[in-house]
Amino acid sequence: MKGNTMNFALIGYGYWGPNLARNIKSIPGINLKYICDVDPDRGKNINFRYPGTGFVCDCEAIANDKEIDAVLIATPVKTHYLLCKMMLDNGKDVFVEKPLAYSTDHAQELVNLAEKNEKILMIGHTFLYSPSVNEIKKIINSGELGEIYFISSSRVNLGKHQKDVSVLWDLAPHDLSMFHYWLESNPHWVSCNGNNYIIKDIPDVAFMHLNYPGDICVNLEIAWLAPSKLRRVAIVGSQKMLVYNDMETLEKVKIFDKGVDYKDPESFGEYQLSYRSGNIFSPYISSQEPLYLEVLDFYNSIKNRTQPVSNGRLGLNIVKIIEKAEQSLNNKGEQVKLV
Ligand SMILES: NC(=O)c1ccc[n+]([C@@H]2O[C@H](COP(=O)([O-])OP(=O)(O)OC[C@H]3O[C@@H](n4cnc5c(N)ncnc54)[C@H](O)[C@@H]3O)[C@@H](O)[C@H]2O)c1
Repeated sequence: MKGNTMNFALIGYGYWGPNLARNIKSIPGINLKYICDVDPDRGKNINFRYPGTGFVCDCEAIANDKEIDAVLIATPVKTHYLLCKMMLDNGKDVFVEKPLAYSTDHAQELVNLAEKNEKILMIGHTFLYSPSVNEIKKIINSGELGEIYFISSSRVNLGKHQKDVSVLWDLAPHDLSMFHYWLESNPHWVSCNGNNYIIKDIPDVAFMHLNYPGDICVNLEIAWLAPSKLRRVAIVGSQKMLVYNDMETLEKVKIFDKGVDYKDPESFGEYQLSYRSGNIFSPYISSQEPLYLEVLDFYNSIKNRTQPVSNGRLGLNIVKIIEKAEQSLNNKGEQVKLV
């Protein structure tokens, strides 16, 4: 760090890296010293777009540069472990894109290493910084929905097929991190069905079922093979129901005053149900960019030496669930316990 300015480096400048670079550059107090990508073509316009930011193809230059305080990693999933380890070993605070690693063992090792070296380890679970997701957390915590019964989520679209990992590792981290954040717990078990229709051995569609404490049923559908893009979560509670549709530009979150009241039967078989259908309310939600808030949390965590919202332990929990879901998928949807 020079004066009050921190030196950052970004590794991986493919599809997602440029979005991180744009947000890093918009935070005063950060100097983006390097962008690194193994593909030299990715560096072509960097000088023009970000004058003063250097481009390197080998990340060792970053690891060995004592001036670099922190590194953001946006490379393919299977490269996360070695890159994170290299940067933590060289005294850097690390932000790595979701998921933290491709196995629980590797994720656990990285969490331990960060804790031992007293370094920040943050995971790019971007939805935890979405104003909609935070509004939903407030609504759940206020008790307005009542007891949560179940959650059903769809995250499907046509593409983009990843070459190295299944749809589970690519898309499920988004929803699983939201469930963890809202329910503040881990599931007891997971079961998962799915298949690979386009690329051999890389499942492109999966249907996950999870059981959370309180007997909350969660259903998650994820796919790279779908007729239209869906980003929709429904949360059904004993008092009200909520729909979060991230495809809406306005009114992403709607609360439905709907439910069923059940009265115990006075005599055998005479139970009574009354269905309620009242107002629909959509709260005001700020339009701040989640990715900006995410990078800002990384910066503030480094400055104040505090844990970010999307910290290493949360990232480890998500990896554990995905690993068990993949085990279930490979065993015809058997229920797999999460210890
Ligand atoms: N948070 C989000 O919403 C979000 C969205 C998309 C992708 N992602 C995550 O971002 C990461 C990257 O995804 P992508 O879609 O940008 O992939 P991509 O393949 O488009 O880009 C990855 C880049 O990393 C480079 N690279 C690979 N190995 C490298 C190494 N060892 N050193 C330096 N550069 C290296 C590649 O050349 C490529 O340019 C993944 O972890 C993915 O899950 C997150």
